[in-house]
Amino acid sequence: MASQSFILRFCLICLSILFTRCSASNSTQINTFTCSSKTPSSCKALLYQHNGFQKDEIASLYSVDISEIKQISYPNRQDNLVTVDCSCKNVGGTVGYFYDTVYRLKPNDTFYNVSNQLFSGQVWQVAAEDTNLTAGLDLKIHLLCGCVEKDSQVMVTYTVQAHDTVSSIANLLSAQVDEIENLNPYLAQNPSYIDIGWLLYVPMEKDGIPPPKKGDKDLTEYQNFQY
Ligand SMILES: *[C@@H]1O[C@H](CO)[C@@H](O)[C@H](O)[C@H]1NC(C)=O
Ligand SMILES: *[C@@H]1O[C@H](CO)[C@@H](O)[C@H](O)[C@H]1NC(C)=O
Ligand SMILES: *[C@@H]1O[C@H](CO)[C@@H](O)[C@H](O)[C@H]1NC(C)=O
Ligand SMILES: *[C@@H]1O[C@H](CO)[C@@H](O)[C@H](O)[C@H]1NC(C)=O
Repeated sequence: MASQSFILRFCLICLSILFTRCSASNSTQINTFTCSSKTPSSCKALLYQHNGFQKDEIASLYSVDISEIKQISYPNRQDNLVTVDCSCKNVGGTVGYFYDTVYRLKPNDTFYNVSNQLFSGQVWQVAAEDTNLTAGLDLKIHLLCGCVEKDSQVMVTYTVQAHDTVSSIANLLSAQVDEIENLNPYLAQNPSYIDIGWLLYVPMEKDGIPPPKKGDKDLTEYQNFQY
């Protein structure tokens, strides 16, 4: 009897591992950041832009002033952090933090390529609004953002790119690994597993955090990025 129940348990564990692995690797994790009584109803938030645009192109896409865009330089490319006015609102029945802008549709645009190729995969899809993608129409763009409780932090919306790890993202954006894990529920099951395209909320310390003792050479440039 004892060995039978052991085998049964073992199989259940195997199945659950298999299931979480399959579902994790097959789905893109894009969630809103939930407003709570502890978080402000609006704030300045940062959106991490990785589509390789110039500042003036980003200013026009995001409807922000050029002064709201800060460059992050890598040896072989340049990304940007865009400061936006983030607020708690109801978008198509979902209450969360959003920053809205508008995009004039071009021929053959799809929701996914507009989101991924122009807005770093950070657009919230609202079924009722995104059905008519006729060129020339204006598509409402609801960008996902977040507000933090602490004044010492600012929330960054970050989309996972190739070769990222939670700790490399924490390093890049001056955040604590455990805080990133706590704010992003889908990291709870398996904190070391992230996939390209996942959207993460990263609480950046405005004044930076002490750099790790042995810095990765590539990371030294933007370690302690200051808001
Ligand atoms: C996995 O993704 C594919 C393609 O997006 C989809 O057709 C399929 O239904 C998904 N499977 C599960 C189990 O979610
Ligand atoms: C849009 O798609 C159609 C049909 O696939 C193609 O003929 C046309 O050239 C495309 N237009 C643009 C601007 O890509
Ligand atoms: C989306 O893809 C279509 C077809 O490849 C292309 O014509 C269009 O310009 C793309 N839009 C964006 C925003 O990249
Ligand atoms: C999309 O909008 C255009 C312009 O308003 C309209 O002519 C067209 O019929 C609409 N298509 C659908 C599928 O609703």
